[in-house]
Amino acid sequence: MFRTYPLKFLLGKMPTKSKISVRNYIPRRALLYVPGDDRKKIDKALGLDVDCIALDCEDGVALNRKVEARATIREFLDKGKPKGPTKFDLGVRVNSIDSGLCHEDLVSCLGGSFLPDTVLLPKVESSEHVLWFADEISHLIKAEDRINLIIYIESALAFINLGDICKTAKQLSKRFSFELVALVLGSDDLLANLGAIRTEDSKEILYARQKLVLTAKAFDLQAIDMVYINYKDLDGLKKQCEEGMRMGYTGKQVIHPGQVPVVHEAFLPTKSQVNWAEGLLKSFEEHQKSGKGAFTYRGSMIDMPTMKQAQNIMKLAKLGK
Ligand code: COA
Ligand code: MG
Repeated sequence: MFRTYPLKFLLGKMPTKSKISVRNYIPRRALLYVPGDDRKKIDKALGLDVDCIALDCEDGVALNRKVEARATIREFLDKGKPKGPTKFDLGVRVNSIDSGLCHEDLVSCLGGSFLPDTVLLPKVESSEHVLWFADEISHLIKAEDRINLIIYIESALAFINLGDICKTAKQLSKRFSFELVALVLGSDDLLANLGAIRTEDSKEILYARQKLVLTAKAFDLQAIDMVYINYKDLDGLKKQCEEGMRMGYTGKQVIHPGQVPVVHEAFLPTKSQVNWAEGLLKSFEEHQKSGKGAFTYRGSMIDMPTMKQAQNIMKLAKLGK
């Protein structure tokens, strides 16, 4: 099932013209999983105000329901992307390459009348996995079409190879019909792989959580944080969202509709942050004109890096409008 391809071979095989285009930023604050075999939940998800829906073939679907999930997703996609209350990114999470199910998932979910916006590829552990995916895509998607790719990092090996994985996916994005847009922290699989024990503050995977966001930023990708599985505890969810956001995460995986509004709100800056940033940018401009690089604003020293942070806040604030 799992074939290996040298990078040089694949790069030589495809047309050389880059298909990269400048695309609008698509927010992915809440990434909602919907079991692909559950038509009722799919319909429910479409009625929600959510940034991103992932129709799941993987861990949200029982082993004996995989075929049903593929068929349900295909039937759904064949009707075209329905309109939700807001514009949303429609993704399909396929099974991992090593599961032996991924090829069939891709053939089914990308073989219909309409493509999803995004493929979510779990348990990517090496560049070889990305090469395998690129080869599949080259057979399934027309050169003029394009699909987003979101990669899941959820094992120790994947973390060791993370830079190579991103580098390869970025390189291949220039020649194949996909574009790597985000990394997801697969915290539960990572915990299992490490033999670590989950705690409320997730200290046991702090290094991985930081490494993922750091690498995502290095490759200009969105970083999507861990799932908060106690889905009825919205205070706990809010706290974990805010922690992730402070680290630089741009969104979070969610499993239940009730989590969506909390996550959406948490991944927007607060009013007082916006107020701080607006004032700072104004003051920065004035000080630049008078030739001052560093200055004091509300009692703190401000220079270029703080100004960039204020710009980030304003960019995010615009998403909420
Ligand atoms: N997507 C869309 N709708 C969902 C949903 C989801 N992920 N989770 C729950 N709902 C719907 C329910 O169908 C129900 O709809 P209704 O009011 O029209 O009947 C409503 O939201 C309230 O759901 P609730 O009764 O509180 O939860 P539940 O017992 O139906 O489901 C879970 C609880 C955890 C099983 C369910 O949320 C789920 O399957 N989540 C996804 C899990 C998953 O994908 N895991 C893998 C990725 S980590
Ligand atoms: Mg996982």
